[in-house]
Amino acid sequence: MQVVSISSLKGGVGKTSVTLGLASAALAAGIRTLVVDLDPHADATTGLGVRAGSQLDIGRMLKVARRARLSENVVPSGWVAAAPDSDGTKTLDVAAGSAYAGIYDRPDLGRRDLRRLSTVLAGATGYDLVLIDCPPSLNGLTRMAWTASNRVLLVAEPGLFSVAGTERTLRAIELFKQEFAPNLVPAGIVANRVRPGSNEHTYRLAEMRSMFGPLLLSPHIPEQANWQQIQGAAHAVHQWPGDAAKNASELFDDLLANLVQKGRTRNRVKR
Ligand SMILES: Nc1ncnc2c1ncn2[C@@H]1O[C@H](COP(=O)(O)OP(=O)(O)O)[C@@H](O)[C@H]1O
Ligand SMILES: [Mg+2]
Repeated sequence: MQVVSISSLKGGVGKTSVTLGLASAALAAGIRTLVVDLDPHADATTGLGVRAGSQLDIGRMLKVARRARLSENVVPSGWVAAAPDSDGTKTLDVAAGSAYAGIYDRPDLGRRDLRRLSTVLAGATGYDLVLIDCPPSLNGLTRMAWTASNRVLLVAEPGLFSVAGTERTLRAIELFKQEFAPNLVPAGIVANRVRPGSNEHTYRLAEMRSMFGPLLLSPHIPEQANWQQIQGAAHAVHQWPGDAAKNASELFDDLLANLVQKGRTRNRVKR
């Protein structure tokens, strides 16, 4: 099981969108996936079409981490039933987000609290992949996600502030790794909302390539006109009609393949 945090210092760069795109690709590929919505805004939970029942949300699971019983509290994504070739074996579950998780989003979270998500995820069975959608800060919740992860996927827009923020985040991962999570590595950087005709974006992408080298993943995700409409309908991009959605689906298929493959190579090297 690979556990990947999707993080950035900044809000609005596309963490949730990339999480949802990868989840959609994983569902289409039959990769058994759990999305943990660690952002108190709970946008991923909304986008995944989750209908809350009596399950505990992630904040409440973290609170009782040792007794949390993850498998009883995950909720199937509303996307699963609509998956074209869903025969009941496809798995896309969600540990639902809620404002309650915000009680852990402090800068001074202690070592014991940092382990809460790892403790909850110890009960994760039957998944190949866990995607953790992080809040837009490096406070307690993101650090808790990193503690529970093998890898961190960063999302950045090709703009000055976002590139600078990505560099700071990479440094923060390095420091965090030394102190708390020796096995943690960056999974790479996804450039999102790229406008192909923009000189500024072309310049920033070249800058990112020279700063981050092979950490800059391909493909880049372009700015997409119907993105908000698809998300607003709580649909998987793989289930949305039209060529634009099909192109976006293929980009996320490739991104997921690169991500999963990198994880495998790394595991082989480790062994
Ligand atoms: N590639 C894209 N093309 C068009 N809109 C996008 C794209 N990526 C993100 N957005 C939009 O930008 C806004 C912020 O994205 P979101 O994924 O919520 O960012 P974050 O989770 O980092 O705060 C959302 O309204 C989303 O629909
Ligand atoms: Mg978000």
